[in-house]
Amino acid sequence: MAHRWKNDLTYADVTAETVWLNRRQAIAGALGAGAMATIGGPALAEDLKPNSWKDITTYNNYYEFGTGKNDPAKYAHKLNTKDWSIEVDGLVNAPGRYSVADLTSDLTEEERIYRFRCVEAWSMVVPWNGFELKDILDKVGVKPDAKYVAFQTALRPDEMPGVRYSVLDWPYREGLRLDEAMHPLTMMATGIYGKTIPNQNGAPIRLVVPWKYGFKSIKSIVRITLTDKEPVTSWNMANRGEYGFYSNVNPNVDHPRWSQATERQIGGGLFAKRVPTKMLNGYEEEAGVLYAGSDLNALF
Ligand code: MTE
Repeated sequence: MAHRWKNDLTYADVTAETVWLNRRQAIAGALGAGAMATIGGPALAEDLKPNSWKDITTYNNYYEFGTGKNDPAKYAHKLNTKDWSIEVDGLVNAPGRYSVADLTSDLTEEERIYRFRCVEAWSMVVPWNGFELKDILDKVGVKPDAKYVAFQTALRPDEMPGVRYSVLDWPYREGLRLDEAMHPLTMMATGIYGKTIPNQNGAPIRLVVPWKYGFKSIKSIVRITLTDKEPVTSWNMANRGEYGFYSNVNPNVDHPRWSQATERQIGGGLFAKRVPTKMLNGYEEEAGVLYAGSDLNALF
């Protein structure tokens, strides 16, 4: 179904966005435009306009709460994020069960405006708040033989109505190569527009990898495992031919069921033209180095 743009933000939404924009200007003023561009990467230099709070929090994919785009907004409030803990295990120096605060309280929280491109060929621009995954991994100490990071979402049938259906092999699992995980653009998000991240967007903490298709950005993480083997991932298990481990945004490589050459920008209105999709979602300059020597079109 086509997504309709409606100008019906609540006062609270508008306020949050205004406060956030002012704060952004204040930071830019304090640091100078150059420094701000570094923090936000090219997305900020281009001055991308973030989608509204409403777009970002009512048009979601979070199959644990149903497969409809509005299901997560309707049902994810059932997820209890209190006393959340993350099991960190595998090839790390300090394995254990950590609270989100244990992992992040002494790190620098950042605001990052990233393009977000779903494999279904829609896109948004999201102002995330969070931390570089690298800083979290450095805290627990990655052992030299680790090559990959595996992530798992909570699996709570009492709170997640969607897991009754075997659309995916639960729990939702994802993974990155260690150098992808350590890349400065890769973040763990705990907020949007300066507010606590809503449940439907992956509270209390989710991954964001802006140059990969959205399904790599796993939500509500309860386990992080450092390993020397390529981790199994839920979408790859569901359909090996359609969802590769890398899944880098690439306009030249079509998904078997839809073209990836262009995308539909959510919030653009019913008659908005599709726009061309950029290699690595516009982050080729930063993330391309990870794949130097590999043919991006062959890296599935
Ligand atoms: N994480 C979990 N646990 N379950 C999911 O169904 N969907 C993925 C990803 N992370 C998903 C998930 C997909 S397909 C996309 S496009 C993004 O989350 C959507 O993120 P958003 O709803 O914040 O836009």
